[in-house]
Amino acid sequence: MSELPMVRTVTDLRRQVARWRGDSLTVGFTPTMGALHEGHLSLVKRAKAEADRVIASVFVNPTQFGPGEDLDAYPRDEAGDAAKLAGAGCDLLFAPAVGEMYPDGFATSVRVSGLTDCLCGASRPGHFDGVATVVSKLLGQARPDIAVFGEKDYQQLQVIKRVNADLDLGARIIGAPTVREEDGLAMSSRNAYLSEAQRLSAGKLNVILNNAAGALSRGARADETLDAARQALAGAGFDRIDYLEARSSEGLALQGPGPVTEPSRVFAAAFLGKTRLIDNWPVG
Ligand code: PAF
Repeated sequence: MSELPMVRTVTDLRRQVARWRGDSLTVGFTPTMGALHEGHLSLVKRAKAEADRVIASVFVNPTQFGPGEDLDAYPRDEAGDAAKLAGAGCDLLFAPAVGEMYPDGFATSVRVSGLTDCLCGASRPGHFDGVATVVSKLLGQARPDIAVFGEKDYQQLQVIKRVNADLDLGARIIGAPTVREEDGLAMSSRNAYLSEAQRLSAGKLNVILNNAAGALSRGARADETLDAARQALAGAGFDRIDYLEARSSEGLALQGPGPVTEPSRVFAAAFLGKTRLIDNWPVG
């Protein structure tokens, strides 16, 4: 397999994109934080199906981690990532250093209101400001025709769509379905933190969300359905539930206490030891 071309500066990234544009080629983009798994590779493949050339970025973005979160422990494997990206059809890896993205004097933050008040935005203050800021930069740097993000981070996907529209960043944002392990556990770089026993419990999260979504789609009350799901999560060995809610798929409006009234999803974040897992499941 030939080696994947890599650039580390915005200047080199733009130079390559300009060459492609000169040849009338369309450009797709898959931003990532590395530690790539099949879920990420499915995003690259989707981008490749939509565009002539595909860029993937690997950048562990410090501004989206809060104090005490896992920035230092976050898994990093640049050589392994490059090999996987090449195998998935990626044409260029953009792997900037922190100083390239946030040089001395950097003073701008992008904040999306409303959508970020709930779910992960409520429990990880500042997280989505970091995501919105870095994604605005990445889209501005690469100016792709399309950019693909996973539905596993469903709230993030909505935030990115909003930023892209509000700041006229010009990409078409595509949401791609969550890729799951055999037992349904959503693939995540953080699954690597789980012990064997925790990994068994982790596989129950998607089953419990799926059951709750099924009950809601049959018209059950949200309060009763979500209470039962909370009990099931505790019974499955989850140590703490950060949130478990039904919200509308578009604006993330809270549903309940009665039956859901809009196209919705069930969203959860729950801890196994120190590892925080998130997942979501569509109602109906
Ligand atoms: O989903 C991720 O991996 C990150 O939040 C993203 C979108 C690459 C921004 O750093």
